[in-house]
Amino acid sequence: MAALVVLLLALMCTGAVYTAVAPTREAKADETAQSLAIDEGKKLYAVGCASCHGTGGQGTSDGPSLVGVGAAAVDFQVGTGRMPAQQPGAQVPKKKVVYTQAEIDQLAAYIASLGAGPNVPTEAQYSPEGADIAKGGELFRTNCAQCHNFTGKGGALTHGKFAPTLEGVDPKHIYEAMQTGPQNMPSFPDTTLSEQNKKDIIAYLDEVNSDDTESPGGLELGGLGPVSEGLFGWIFGLGGLIAVAVWVAARTAKAKKS
Ligand code: HEC
Ligand code: HEC
Repeated sequence: MAALVVLLLALMCTGAVYTAVAPTREAKADETAQSLAIDEGKKLYAVGCASCHGTGGQGTSDGPSLVGVGAAAVDFQVGTGRMPAQQPGAQVPKKKVVYTQAEIDQLAAYIASLGAGPNVPTEAQYSPEGADIAKGGELFRTNCAQCHNFTGKGGALTHGKFAPTLEGVDPKHIYEAMQTGPQNMPSFPDTTLSEQNKKDIIAYLDEVNSDDTESPGGLELGGLGPVSEGLFGWIFGLGGLIAVAVWVAARTAKAKKS
């Protein structure tokens, strides 16, 4: 009987020790994967980015310091093809993406290791599920519409800069743009726009830019606001009045002749 009790106790001890040790082992595996990604990212960085951003990300006269910009900034800049930048200009434009998502993740891991910054958002954070579209519209009009227009169609800014259209932009990149504020865009950290607010804005943009949303006000005219609507009024409204005036004048002239 005593032998059985000892055996049971021994088994319980092994179980307890195993559960205590196992998670740390997993964490270790994660850690090595992470440091591998950082190493790979460092190599990619040395080839593609160091010429402008400096060998340790400290920045040069051709590019700003990347210490503390975070993985989200790298995922946005490289994932939308803005980086690596090519020629200097008013604003670094979007181009064809040159790195695979796996390489972008490695670059992001390396930059994040230089200094803490915003992480790449998870799908749960940027998916429009569980969002309030009407609230998102309200937030968009107060925070974003002055540059991006009411439905995110974009617009010109000063000195050759512009706010791009937000149609067809990946929800992850919309979230990251708000987190990091690329170039002339202000950043909206969670203290300004909470995670839920960001989700609401993404859901609003998704709604107004999807093809199957009907415009309740009739013809959309490109969704550009007062300019295209005014032009429509001028050409068709005023044009119609002029046509009527010409027709009336022609008739009176004819009536006088006969
Ligand atoms: C030709 C020079 C050049 C190259 C090459 C280049 N960059 Fe940049 N990068 C810039 C400049 C200039 C800016 C600043 C743009 C601005 O804000 O007006 C910038 C901005 C950035 C930012 C945004 C920083 C912030 O404050 O949010 C990130 C992130 C970035 N670069 C990452 C990279 C990565 C990663 C690579 C390599 C794949 C790379 N860059 C290659 C010139 C360059
Ligand atoms: C002061 C003007 C300004 C405001 C306000 C502003 N943006 Fe921007 N936004 C810009 C500019 C300029 C760019 C282009 C930056 C670049 O190319 O690096 C931009 C870029 C973006 C992009 C990237 C689009 C792409 O094609 O990759 C997204 C997404 C975005 N903005 C969303 C928003 C949202 C959402 C808000 C409100 C919470 C907002 N912006 C507020 C000026 C602004």
